Amino acid sequence: MNKDTFAVREPLPLVTSPAVLQRAMLYKLNSCMGARGELLVPCIPGMLDYYMKLIERLFAALGRPMPEERKSQLRGMVESKLEEGFGVSPTSVLVVQYESVKPPKTGMACKFAIRSPTVGEHYQSWLDTRKSPLFGSHPDAKVMAIAAELAPRGKLRVLDVGGGTGRNALPLARKGHKVDVLELAPVFVEKLQAAAEPGLPLEVMEGDILDPLVRMRPAYYQVAIATEVTSHFRSTDQLRLFLAKMCDYLATGGLLLFNIFLSAEGYEPDALVRQMAEQAWSTIFEGKELVGAMEELPLTIISNESAIEYERQHLPPEAWPPTSWFQSWATGRDVFPIADGLPPMELRWILCRRT
Ligand SMILES: C[S@@+](CC[C@H](N)C(=O)[O-])C[C@H]1O[C@@H](n2cnc3c(N)ncnc32)[C@H](O)[C@@H]1O
Repeated sequence: MNKDTFAVREPLPLVTSPAVLQRAMLYKLNSCMGARGELLVPCIPGMLDYYMKLIERLFAALGRPMPEERKSQLRGMVESKLEEGFGVSPTSVLVVQYESVKPPKTGMACKFAIRSPTVGEHYQSWLDTRKSPLFGSHPDAKVMAIAAELAPRGKLRVLDVGGGTGRNALPLARKGHKVDVLELAPVFVEKLQAAAEPGLPLEVMEGDILDPLVRMRPAYYQVAIATEVTSHFRSTDQLRLFLAKMCDYLATGGLLLFNIFLSAEGYEPDALVRQMAEQAWSTIFEGKELVGAMEELPLTIISNESAIEYERQHLPPEAWPPTSWFQSWATGRDVFPIADGLPPMELRWILCRRT
């Protein structure tokens, strides 16, 4: 527009409408406003659609709606980050850092980071923030029942995989059984070693049972236990590796006791449920997957029963529930927080004999 054009124009009308003036001021204000923040979401690939809607709504609420072309670009980035994080650990968290860009540009700039604490770091934070005992004041009733049943034959050689703070290992060793503990989290290895009084027949080793290089004594143990451990596994391959190793370490006729989340008869967990279960340290297996993982291994299932029912009936009343979270976790409610019904999964005690 040149000077002449300006000169011939009609004079502009005076605007005094409060509504119009307010709209104009808001427009000006919006261009001066900014937003910056972090959104933290668990790295669960199956939640991609849900997370994208959340991000879109968030940005729109902050006055920076996402243009269509940006949506698919952002979706691709979030998708690959969720996959990457979940691959590293089921408890990884995706951090979406967003900040509105300065006018005259519009929109939100985003950066992504993945936080993947190890199992050891998680349990360190439990020790830092929760009251002891972390897993209960008493040993598992089922563990002690098996040991008591076999004890007349003499002192037992016991392997405790993922012994944690020694809730089972310490009482077994104090009864004179020779207990070897294999534990992944360094913090628990230290704690357990410190808790064992001198001369106790207890040996604690740091290691991952799923690491092929970690080996225990072959054909040596009469009892092997893994309580609240398979809930950390990530696949039936890992379950099979664990079972195969137990077969190597158990003497013929020895017993293997472990607990595991099994889906209810007739219920097939889909990919999202499996991811959510892993994230909640409640990895779910179908009965047929457990049977498949045992195929051709020298193991026979002796019993398969509800862990929560067994422990409720056999623990002393003052030891029930073992922890504030046990009932919710063992009934599958850490995955499906259903109040007025039963989730289609639960923790089961599986007792097997090494044939
Ligand atoms: C929920 S705690 C239970 C501790 C103990 N078994 C109890 O019942 O009190 C699970 C334990 O298993 C250990 N763990 C998990 N995965 C493991 C693995 N692959 N090898 C050895 N230990 C493992 C964890 O570090 C943790 O101490």
